[in-house]
Amino acid sequence: MHAGLVAIRQELKRLQSEGVDRVYVGDATLQLLAGARSSAAPARPTPTVVPEIIKPAAVAKAVEAAPVSAFPPPPEFDLPEDGPAGQMQWLRQTVLDCPVCREHLGASGKVVFGEGNEQADLFFCGEAPGEEEARSGRPFVGKAGQLLDKILSAMGLSREKVYMADILKWQPGHDKPIGTPPPTAEEIAFCLPYLKAQIRIVRPKVVIALGNTAVSGLLGPDPDRRMGSIRGTWQEFDGIPLMATFHPSYLLRRDDSSTKRQVWEDMMQVMEKTGLSISEKQRSYFLPK
Ligand code: URA
Repeated sequence: MHAGLVAIRQELKRLQSEGVDRVYVGDATLQLLAGARSSAAPARPTPTVVPEIIKPAAVAKAVEAAPVSAFPPPPEFDLPEDGPAGQMQWLRQTVLDCPVCREHLGASGKVVFGEGNEQADLFFCGEAPGEEEARSGRPFVGKAGQLLDKILSAMGLSREKVYMADILKWQPGHDKPIGTPPPTAEEIAFCLPYLKAQIRIVRPKVVIALGNTAVSGLLGPDPDRRMGSIRGTWQEFDGIPLMATFHPSYLLRRDDSSTKRQVWEDMMQVMEKTGLSISEKQRSYFLPK
């Protein structure tokens, strides 16, 4: 097997063992895979390493069909002199009117700005809107969002008491036939100033970064960083303590109590940091019986 393909295979296996089940496939990798397909022995109906992760033909088709878009530089702006509610209102309108965000919407898609309490202690940062969020214009209203609501409720909170926003303000790859891909580096770079301004306005006691995209967006990309190692540890964003934890979609996919317990332990650290009391009953959630 071509050395490049061996490396791809190894990397996919490693990612799979880390719980990653979607990958972005770049042009160079696609070319390698396309070469492998055309030169492969016809008799071998080789399953890909993780067939649900990588479907080269579908990906290649989608990439070919995608319009070539050159991103303008990330937006630069100053927030108006105002209180948090006024600043957030100004920012919301700016993002809803952002031509680049609007250009990336599907036919019935909406820009998803974020929502919650502008004076919240907790700021939950997600990845990007999915289909339901894009349809409603609200963050975390699909299955992952319903799970996030349950986590908040277990903490004695509700979405009205916290703030939640995504790194990306539009649904990525809404026009692709292969589900929702993670945002590209260009997309993240473009939207990041909006998210950073939201965090600056709320000035929460803690930022909770849900999943790898949120962690990479806020802390900067690091190819050696692993969600399994960084989760549950305190980091810092713009002088604010940041807790990295698994994304609720990952929890839904895993559906096992040890991962639930890990996220719950991360949330208990957040509760302690922000002065929320934790009952004995809460402390025992998701412990083996
Ligand atoms: N996943 C996210 O990261 N954000 C949403 O708003 C919905 C799903």
